[in-house]
Amino acid sequence: MNKIYGLPVLLLWLGTTACGGKPPPAPANVGDLLPADAELADIYQRSCRSCHIVADTSAPLTGDTAAWQGRMDQGMDTLLQHVVDGFGGMPPLGMCFECDEQQFIALIQFMAQPPAE
Ligand code: HEC
Repeated sequence: MNKIYGLPVLLLWLGTTACGGKPPPAPANVGDLLPADAELADIYQRSCRSCHIVADTSAPLTGDTAAWQGRMDQGMDTLLQHVVDGFGGMPPLGMCFECDEQQFIALIQFMAQPPAE
């Protein structure tokens, strides 16, 4: 495990130190983060998580507050609309076809907040 993760972690560290003063990057345990609510966690694992933990998708990563800041500034109505309609590389409804608005909002808030300790 350590051997596999060592290099990316080192690169991440170098990247952070090189441009000091920047907010912290996406949490290293981004793949382990789940909403506290069991039903939301289930939805999240089936939909949002498949992209929002993968940097290559260019999606703002779960718990990466710096990446989410500018997006949250647009306001929840706009964010919700973007999820429902699809936005850039994100398909309509974020691939959760049964989700209601309250669930989308809760999922957005979960992904945009710093990871719980
Ligand atoms: C197939 C991949 C994929 C899935 C699944 C996905 N997203 Fe996204 N999402 C993206 C990408 C890529 C972006 C960035 C799009 C851009 O900025 O061009 C994004 C951006 C967003 C944004 C920011 C929109 C904005 O206005 O900046 C929100 C909010 C969001 N996703 C919520 C969700 C939620 C909630 C789910 C699960 C219900 C979800 N996404 C599922 C790929 C995905």
